[in-house]
Amino acid sequence: MDSTGLSASEKITLFSAWGLIRKDLEVHGRNMLLLLFHKHPHYVSYFDFTDDPAAQSLVDNKSLFNQSIHVIKAFGSLIEYGLKDPDLFNETLKKITRNHQHRNVYSSDVLTIGEVLLDYLAQVLGRQVSDSLPDAFRKLFATIASRFPVPPSPTTTPPSSSVESDGNDPEIEKTDDSQ
Ligand code: HEM
Repeated sequence: MDSTGLSASEKITLFSAWGLIRKDLEVHGRNMLLLLFHKHPHYVSYFDFTDDPAAQSLVDNKSLFNQSIHVIKAFGSLIEYGLKDPDLFNETLKKITRNHQHRNVYSSDVLTIGEVLLDYLAQVLGRQVSDSLPDAFRKLFATIASRFPVPPSPTTTPPSSSVESDGNDPEIEKTDDSQ
């Protein structure tokens, strides 16, 4: 085991799943972000999509599209290059965590986004996903989360209700890989 926290077979599992989505990366990246916002709407407010003032909705917002490409490429480089080279993995992760300083992004948020991505992969890849993917994927996200700050402990009583998902998934753009 190296600093990625993954075994050789878990790395192969992640590589294979990544190989299935990388050809339509921009579509999947945007879909993943839209699914995050659908399931956890409060995350929309973390982002600034005002670069595209003409957009009628998040789905056709080019600023969101652009930012989703940065996010998915950074995530992909952890798998594609980092799993082969743990030192590079560490450097990439250092840069990712630095990009999130002062954005109030905590380890718990990384685990949340990880579950959304896993859910998305299960939806688009269906039976192409290996049984070992969920465990390998969660381990990767545990490693990423371990480099982010822990959430501050609440000092006030949390609101009794919060705006979260209705459980229904949004319309997502389909690719050739869709089942
Ligand atoms: C695997 C996990 C993640 C990866 C690889 C990732 C990657 C990135 C990258 C590459 C950027 C662009 C940085 C820049 O060019 O300045 C970014 C920005 C950002 N990320 Fe993440 N991110 C991750 C998790 C999260 C989580 C959990 C949140 C919480 C909601 C988050 C919120 C943001 C925000 C708010 C920005 C700034 C967008 C803006 O400029 O308005 N990220 N992320």
